Amino acid sequence: MKAAYYDRQGPAHDVIQLGDLPDPEPGPGEVRVRVHVSGLNPSDTKTRGAFGGRPMGFPRIVPHQDGAGVIDRVGPGVPEARLGERVWVYEAQFGRAFGTAAQFTVVPAAKAVVLPSNVSFETGACLGVPALTAHRCLLADGDLRGRWVLVQGGAGAVGTAAILLAKWAGAFVATTVSRSEQEKVAREAGADLVINRQTEDVAVRVKEATLGKGVDRIVEVNLKANLAIDMACLALDGTVSAYATDDPAAVIPIPFVPAMQRGFNFRFMLVYTMSEEAHRQAVREVTACLEAGAYRPVIGLRLPLERVIEAHEAQDSGRMIGKIILDTGV
Ligand SMILES: NC(=O)c1ccc[n+]([C@@H]2O[C@H](COP(=O)([O-])OP(=O)(O)OC[C@H]3O[C@@H](n4cnc5c(N)ncnc54)[C@H](OP(=O)(O)O)[C@@H]3O)[C@@H](O)[C@H]2O)c1
Repeated sequence: MKAAYYDRQGPAHDVIQLGDLPDPEPGPGEVRVRVHVSGLNPSDTKTRGAFGGRPMGFPRIVPHQDGAGVIDRVGPGVPEARLGERVWVYEAQFGRAFGTAAQFTVVPAAKAVVLPSNVSFETGACLGVPALTAHRCLLADGDLRGRWVLVQGGAGAVGTAAILLAKWAGAFVATTVSRSEQEKVAREAGADLVINRQTEDVAVRVKEATLGKGVDRIVEVNLKANLAIDMACLALDGTVSAYATDDPAAVIPIPFVPAMQRGFNFRFMLVYTMSEEAHRQAVREVTACLEAGAYRPVIGLRLPLERVIEAHEAQDSGRMIGKIILDTGV
């Protein structure tokens, strides 16, 4: 099969190679997916060593956790009825060496989820990391119908997923952006209130829109930078769900008394270590959102697999608006 891979970490143009690798075979409880579209996330390039960090987990890595395609082989214990199923794949390279940047990938059967017939492979390849992360941040603490949510960084991949899922779940959504191209994306995703965090006072706008009450939940992309704003925006008993911060070594100084007096909750989450039940719930509800036609990710860059280095460099730039996806050419 045609695949992108690396045998050592470093800048994309130094380490990523393109070549032929043997087709993988599914083991017990696994399926093989003929990958049509592979989706990138920041964690794929961080694993490649974009910013230092953890060492190689395997001697050779085919990157990318997310993708979409068709099941073409099943391992022992997996019903043959799954052959030919259109699926989206999540966490394909978590705890294993070969992800979706190839014409085939092998995953545990539960990580290949039926793609509703109204949903394209492009959308399927955008689901995994962003959709599951956004779901957990939004819905781990109960129903959202009629509630207010603040999505910090609504034009990011997770941010846009959070707006889409929150609207599908019946919430009012406020979101922050930093420039006009981002504002367009956030509005198209359905945000009710879009706030430019560079030029406006986020807490003032949120308080106006919520008649002084504040938001019930915040989906937070940079907790260290936004802690004070979040505390000023939260309603009584509100929850901040943090999935990232710009400094992984950060110690977050939460002011105890105001947080105590207002019953605030702080939730931290990493998609890869979510419980199986949390994964199952997220997969069920993301599927319902897809079936309703309510999940429309923004695609910022679509390239053939051969241009995987450009794709990684675009991801590393931090300037992309929208998902980066690769067509494998199958
Ligand atoms: N915990 C998890 O399980 C998990 C899951 C997915 C992603 N992540 C991490 O989350 C981060 C974002 O991932 P992504 O795929 O969504 O990236 P992305 O598409 O690059 O989006 C990041 C967004 O965050 C915005 N942003 C940055 N600083 C902000 C701030 N202080 N306030 C509000 N918005 C801010 C950016 O806007 P500007 O251009 O204005 O900076 C951008 O729109 C990455 O570090 C990723 O590794 C963690």
